[in-house]
Amino acid sequence: MKLAVIGTGYVGLVSGTGFSELGNDVICVDKIKEKIEQLNNNQIPIYEPGLEELVRKNREAGRLSFTTDLKAAVKASDLVFIAVGTPESPSGAADLSYVYGVAEEIGEALDHKYKVIVVKSTVPVGTSEEVERRILMKNPDANIDVCSVPEFLREGSAVHDTFHPDRIVIGARTEKAANLLVELHSPLTDKIITTDPRSSEMIKYASNAFLATKISFINEMANICDAYEADIQAVAKGMGLDHRIGPKFLNAGIGYGGSCFPKDVKALKHLAEEKNYHSKILQAVINVNDKQSDRMIEHFDDIFGDKVEGLTVGMLGLAFKPNTDDMREAPSLKIIPKLLERGVHVKAYDPIARDNAQSLLPQEVKIVGSLTEAIQDVDALFLVTEWEEFLSLSPAELKALMKQQVVIDGRNAFDRDALKQEGFIYRGIGRK
Ligand code: UDX
Repeated sequence: MKLAVIGTGYVGLVSGTGFSELGNDVICVDKIKEKIEQLNNNQIPIYEPGLEELVRKNREAGRLSFTTDLKAAVKASDLVFIAVGTPESPSGAADLSYVYGVAEEIGEALDHKYKVIVVKSTVPVGTSEEVERRILMKNPDANIDVCSVPEFLREGSAVHDTFHPDRIVIGARTEKAANLLVELHSPLTDKIITTDPRSSEMIKYASNAFLATKISFINEMANICDAYEADIQAVAKGMGLDHRIGPKFLNAGIGYGGSCFPKDVKALKHLAEEKNYHSKILQAVINVNDKQSDRMIEHFDDIFGDKVEGLTVGMLGLAFKPNTDDMREAPSLKIIPKLLERGVHVKAYDPIARDNAQSLLPQEVKIVGSLTEAIQDVDALFLVTEWEEFLSLSPAELKALMKQQVVIDGRNAFDRDALKQEGFIYRGIGRK
């Protein structure tokens, strides 16, 4: 099939490349010229394992191309995917200006040939219908169906997720469009559900909100565990063996970050409020998450008392999670200012997010170029992002480098017992 994918962010770039790998002809479009030039040189603007090879391979095979010319891409395609950003607006609502801007441009580019327009961006319920209205406003004779096919991929494993989806959700209002989209996605999985666009849009928000709820719930349990000296790791294991609960997304820590959960939970809450429904659960999920990264500071204050001024903390990890350079809503951005406020020196290391972090962090933070430098002579280590290379360090190696043996583990990822045996003061989240 011939596809145009508008927007070369995470969703557009990965899914466009994925569709080309399946044998389709894909034109990816972005209005940022430099990005398109980079992509045409096989340079990937984001860090995503496996993506560069896949882009190169499919470009060389002639199935994948990049352009700024939206109109030509739309004209050449049977299906047009809208995969532009829906950032958070000051009210918490999703900002749909990019989606609607693209819809209008698509409207101007359409002729009478039948095309399926697919909204892949995460959008409020009813947006696909509004997209259709705006396209028809520009071009009343357009022969289109507007559908919703949300994307569920995770950063850092986006390529894997594209080829191994848990499910594909197709929201379509006509059988013709639904059939075309089922055909396009059927090489990926047989777990395809078809529904109406509004339910499809809601499935995306409800899924992300549920996962965020799971995280805030286990974080709240961890905080209660801390107070009662129970161990959240054991609690989560015991809970997760119940099939109805499941073991995933029960890792207590310093809260969820990234480009989706924080924004989508707020957008769903806002959506409900527009219809005068005030969600108490979503508000609680947000409240717990806002406070969760403070747990590391509380442990730090508890260990060092009022003698924190002049101490040095080695911060391991800056990105919101491992295997990404994404700093959006990263807990490190909340933790670092609180340490600086206390007169603490901060040395930080992240294998990939270093450059992205530089402009976001106060100048006093020393971003170092190696893991050893981040550990050398520090009074305490803060594990903020659980990169695998951090976890391979032995307690003896840490001890040899550090000034004082204090580890505050915001991800419950270090071997607590091994560290304690080596004489470390260890604090996790819910593992006092
Ligand atoms: C998420 C969804 O998983 C994905 O389906 C959606 O399309 C986009 O949002 P992503 O933001 O890439 O993907 O990251 P994910 O791996 O889901 O983690 C989100 C956040 O939750 C991270 O900050 C992570 O550290 C945190 N998390 C996750 C926990 O704190 N505990 C867990 O048990 C799991």
